[in-house]
Amino acid sequence: MNHNILVDFCQMLKKLKARWKVNSINLVLIITTFAMGGSLCGYLGRTILALSNLENYKLVWFVFYIIIVTLLWPLSVLAISIPLGQFAFFKRYILKVWQKLSGKKKNDLAVARIAIFASGAGSNAAQIINHFGNSENINISLIISNNPNAGVIEIAKKAGVPYLLIEKERFFNGNGYLPELQQHHINFIVLAGFLWKLPTSLIKTHYKKIINIHPALLPKFGGKGMYGNRVHEAVIGANETETGITIHYVDELYDHGDIIFQAKCQVVENETVDTLAEKIHALEHAYYPKLIAEIIQK
Ligand code: GAR
Repeated sequence: MNHNILVDFCQMLKKLKARWKVNSINLVLIITTFAMGGSLCGYLGRTILALSNLENYKLVWFVFYIIIVTLLWPLSVLAISIPLGQFAFFKRYILKVWQKLSGKKKNDLAVARIAIFASGAGSNAAQIINHFGNSENINISLIISNNPNAGVIEIAKKAGVPYLLIEKERFFNGNGYLPELQQHHINFIVLAGFLWKLPTSLIKTHYKKIINIHPALLPKFGGKGMYGNRVHEAVIGANETETGITIHYVDELYDHGDIIFQAKCQVVENETVDTLAEKIHALEHAYYPKLIAEIIQK
């Protein structure tokens, strides 16, 4: 095979993987389902038409064939998708096709379109993206970062989630990137290690629609300058025997809005910043995605 064709083909597969948010094995199974479902549909369509005695009316036969095949296609791919383990994907896919064809967009209120704001490695963002990869009601629609070197940008690229790099001047003194949020139909904001305070305009337009995770039991160890390892240092320095995570609504003050959820862990003797950071991340990854779903479903 010509080298360029092969490269194009691999790139197309890569794009499909990112777009459908699936791994290589699932991609192969999905393509197989499309192929087998299409053949089954064609075969069933011709068999049904053979019983209809319409061969002499070519145009009617053709129109009838198109109608039957259109109706049979979803049933055929769904049937094939079951033994190939791809039913959930095709159920979602067919629903989307139907919504496009019928011009019916999902009600914006029924679908949460989340923007994740993050400044660092993005391990929480990655967990959240994975958790909602197959969700019909919750879509991770945009990653926003103030840091061009943040790990979260790579995570967004790999997952095929659009991302936006923002700059201070426009964020605080301009329009807070509201037009971009509207363009992506964002109706819920999740902060996951985002180090800038949000501008008041954004908090007002998204009242009770912005949540944050903090790596300590607020109101302890919160406030300006308290983020990431600095929090763990302070916890260890204060000889605390327990710490944890806090998920809270965001208001105009640092780490201040109503608390939604807390989970605790022990601070043991000889605890280091690294060991504590590991424990805290484990708690965050276990709880944040689940809590996001609960808060949105409320
Ligand atoms: C998380 O531990 C989060 O709680 C903390 O930053 C870390 C980001 O990690 N947030 C704050 O300190 C906010 N005050 P991640 O980039 O791996 O998700």
